[in-house]
Amino acid sequence: MIEQLREVKQKAIEDLVPIMSDESIDFIVTSLLKYQCKSVLEVGTAVGFSALSIASLIPEIKITTIERDESRYVQAVRNIEKIDVRHQICSVFADALDYQCTQTFDALIIDAAKAQNKTFFDRFFPFIKPRGIVIVDNLDFHGHNKNAELLTDRRNLRQMVNKIRAFEDYVNNREDLDVERVLIGDGMMLIRRIGHSFNFYE
Ligand SMILES: C[S@@+](CC[C@H](N)C(=O)[O-])C[C@H]1O[C@@H](n2cnc3c(N)ncnc32)[C@H](O)[C@@H]1O
Repeated sequence: MIEQLREVKQKAIEDLVPIMSDESIDFIVTSLLKYQCKSVLEVGTAVGFSALSIASLIPEIKITTIERDESRYVQAVRNIEKIDVRHQICSVFADALDYQCTQTFDALIIDAAKAQNKTFFDRFFPFIKPRGIVIVDNLDFHGHNKNAELLTDRRNLRQMVNKIRAFEDYVNNREDLDVERVLIGDGMMLIRRIGHSFNFYE
């Protein structure tokens, strides 16, 4: 399994498909275990690397993962079949902006179009169980977030960074949320509802 995952990662790197860093996966897996998550909705499958990594490290977890790019979705399905984790991963070919959720999840992972973090959050957070968690990746946006003031001649990039910052402000200003910003990978966030503290001894 580990060798097959390495091959998926290597091919993604060769094909310039963006995938999560190992540190980001470690943080997600640690958080999913800490909060005893059994079901995950992931927005942004790419070729399945993050979902496959999580599934291989937490055998009891079930992941529904959404991808809108057809060739990446097809590649993800192939990888899931090859690694034989069909019982753990449900791969969905859809634009997450249209996807109709029909179940609730313990965790939401947002790793898709960064300018739409807030839209994804607002759309799927109602389907996250009261004591569930949300993890958002790439908040530093390859270091650009820290240096946004220097992006004077790069309008699109600046707009993207502004949207990422606006999402951060939005969740930080919500009084019902506990937000933890972590300097892991490309900058991550762990969001939980306040008032639904987790009893680790239950
Ligand atoms: C950073 S990649 C995901 C990487 C993956 N989580 C991993 O680590 O292996 C982001 C993916 O989100 C997809 N995406 C962007 N916007 C989307 C949307 N609205 N609905 C579904 N997928 C989307 C892109 O096509 C891209 O493949």
